[in-house]
Amino acid sequence: MGGRTLIVGASQAGLQLAVSLRDLGYDGAVTLAGEEEHPPYQRPPLSKTFLTGEQDTEGLALRAPGFYREAGIDLLTGERITRVALSPSGPPGSGVATTAAGRTLAFDQLALTVGASPARLPVPHDGLDGVVYLRDLGDAGRLRARLEEAREVVIVGGGFIGLETAAVARAMGKSVTVVEAAGRLLSRAVAPVISEFYRAAHNRRGSTVLLSAEVAGFTGCDGRVAGVGLKDGRSLPADLVLIGIGAVPRTELAEQLGLDCAGGIVVDGYARTSERSVVAAGDCTVQPHPLAANGRIRVESVQNAIAQARVAAAGLLGRYGDTTAVPWFWSDQGDLKLQIAGLNAGYEECVVRGDPETERFSVLYYRGDRLLAIDAVNRPADYMAVRKALAAGATIRAGAAGDETVPLKSLIVDTDVV
Ligand code: NAI
Repeated sequence: MGGRTLIVGASQAGLQLAVSLRDLGYDGAVTLAGEEEHPPYQRPPLSKTFLTGEQDTEGLALRAPGFYREAGIDLLTGERITRVALSPSGPPGSGVATTAAGRTLAFDQLALTVGASPARLPVPHDGLDGVVYLRDLGDAGRLRARLEEAREVVIVGGGFIGLETAAVARAMGKSVTVVEAAGRLLSRAVAPVISEFYRAAHNRRGSTVLLSAEVAGFTGCDGRVAGVGLKDGRSLPADLVLIGIGAVPRTELAEQLGLDCAGGIVVDGYARTSERSVVAAGDCTVQPHPLAANGRIRVESVQNAIAQARVAAAGLLGRYGDTTAVPWFWSDQGDLKLQIAGLNAGYEECVVRGDPETERFSVLYYRGDRLLAIDAVNRPADYMAVRKALAAGATIRAGAAGDETVPLKSLIVDTDVV
C-alpha cells in the first residue's frame, strides 16, 4: 500500500481524505497541499461565532498543530498548485503537479478536494473599499474588523452566508438590509414556507429584507463604498457591503486533466472522476442523485465533504463498500437553529409540523410515500427522528407527521408498512 498520494486542497474534505488513508492502513507518503496559510480549519463558524468574536483563529483549527507530523501527513500550506498532469506512460493515476512557486510534486495517486470560490457579482466594484466576500479565514478576519466600524450594512444575497451574517450584524446593532435577487430567501435549499419564515423572522429582529431586488451599481466616496443602487431605482446607504450570492466549484485543475466537469467535477458514487484513478470530494464535485433535475447534485456541506472523502480514500485503496450516508446540514442565524437532514431534491409534498409563528417548527419533504428530508427550526428532536428514519431506510407517514402532540420518533415505520 505504498506510493505517494497528493491531495490538492487542504480543507475539510482534503484533511479527512488524508486521515482516512491513514486510518485504513495506508503507509505511503501523503502530501496535503493547500493555498491558504492556515492549517485546515472549520469554515462554518466564519459566518457565525468567529464574526461575533466568540471563537478565535486557534479555536477553528481542525487538528492540533502536532497532529500532521504524528500522522505522517506532509502538510504544505501557502502552496497553490497551478498545474497538474497525469503521466501518459506511468501507472494509471500517476503524474506531476507544479506549485505557483515552481515546486514540483510527483504523485502516484491524486485527489482533488479544491472546494469552491464565491460567485462574483457581475456589477463593477473592484477597487471599492468596503465591498467584501466571505469564504476563507482571511475574508472573515477582515469582515470582523469592518463590522465593528460599520453602521449601515448591505448584504447582497439572502442565502446562508447572507442570513447568518445579517443575524450577527443586527445583534451588534447595525442597520442591516438584505438584497435578494430571487422572490424568496434560501431558495436553493428550502421550501417556500421556510423562506417566508426567515423573511419574517429577520424582519422581526430589525433587518430589512428586499426580495426580487437586484443591484445596479455602487457609489463611493474617496474609494470607500457609500451606497448601493438597485435596478428599481432605490438607493441604500452603506458603509459595508457583503456579497454572498453562491459558490462556484473550482474545476480548473480538473479541466487541465481533461476530467468531465458539469457544474462541478463529475464523480460517481465512489468519488471517482471520469479518469477512474483520480478521486475528488467535497464542494468541488457533482455526484449522482436519482431525483435531481439532471441526475446529479452538488452538495455543499461539511457532512458531504467528510463522507465523500472517506469513500474516496477507501477507493484509492481499492475498497468499494457501502457509500450510503444521510446528508445533514445546519445554519445558525442568531437564536434560530435550522437543522436539515436528507436531500429534498425532487420533492412533491411538504408537511409542516408546528406553527412557524412560534419559531419552532419543522417541514418534512416527501415524494409519494417516501420521506426525503426535514428542515427543523429550533426542533432538534424532529430533526433527530428524521435522521434516524432515513438512516434506517424507514419513513414517517405524511398523514401523521403534522400532529405536533405525537413525537416524530414514535411514528417511524418500515417503508413496506406504508
Ligand atoms: P447560497 O447559494 O446559500 O445563497 C446565495 C443567495 O444569493 C441565493 O439566495 C440567491 O438567490 C442569491 N443571489 C444570487 N445572485 C444574486 C444577485 N446577483 N443579487 C442578489 N442575490 C443573489 O450561497 P452563499 O450564501 O453565498 O453561501 C456560499 C456557500 O457557503 C454555500 O455552499 C453555503 O452552503 C455555504 N455556507 C454554509 C453555511 C453553513 O454551513 N451553515 C453558512 C454559510 C455558507
